[in-house]
Amino acid sequence: MKNYNIAIDGPAGAGKSTIAKNIAKKLQYIYVDTGAMYRAMALSMMRQGISTENEEAVSKACSLIKITIEYIDGLQQVKLNGENVTAFIRDEEVGKNASVVARYNTVRKKMVELQQSLASSSNVIMDGRDIGTVVLPSADLKIFLTASSKTRAFRRWKELEEKGILSNIDDIEADIINRDRQDMNREISPLRQAEDAVLVDSSNLTIDEVIDKIILLFKEKCKGD
Ligand code: DC
Repeated sequence: MKNYNIAIDGPAGAGKSTIAKNIAKKLQYIYVDTGAMYRAMALSMMRQGISTENEEAVSKACSLIKITIEYIDGLQQVKLNGENVTAFIRDEEVGKNASVVARYNTVRKKMVELQQSLASSSNVIMDGRDIGTVVLPSADLKIFLTASSKTRAFRRWKELEEKGILSNIDDIEADIINRDRQDMNREISPLRQAEDAVLVDSSNLTIDEVIDKIILLFKEKCKGD
């Protein structure tokens, strides 16, 4: 039986994970958050005291690390050498370091293999930076989800505020712009819109509007199947 794949790529903070998670629930697909894998890799380097700027050291350590994915009540859990590190990978520092280790060939090769093996055994909606271009080039639907850096910074600021964390919106926007630059300008699998991806700008749309739009596009694409 055919497995269906939906690929969602886009810059940091465009709402990919919230939207993909919701769509996965509605379609009863598995949601694969690939950024979490790069984050787990970065966390491992940070814990070992390895500078993520040191490609040789990162590559060497990467070959010894085991990253696996499990699902508890439909929610993705990332394991690093058997330890569930899902709760430790969300802070900004880990995100920044994830963007650095994501430049390296050894790291990407390992992550892409894991992602492709997950997609080969289930219907998945997968989000990241290179899903439509590299990981699932024949995905049934490819979305490039974006939003202005101002909108993304505001959403992040609000998210932090709701957690009781005060932050500076301009600093957040500067970090976002920096991360975009790093992800779009790296040599291997840079963030870019696949030729056959549909561009969705979420700046002026609610989460529900984006979800409905993507589900509609998917149904239209798969009408004849
Ligand atoms: O989506 P995120 O913020 O959790 O991702 C963290 C970093 O991981 C991101 O800045 C770039 C990298 N990444 C990548 O290179 N390729 C992916 N498919 C997913 C994430």
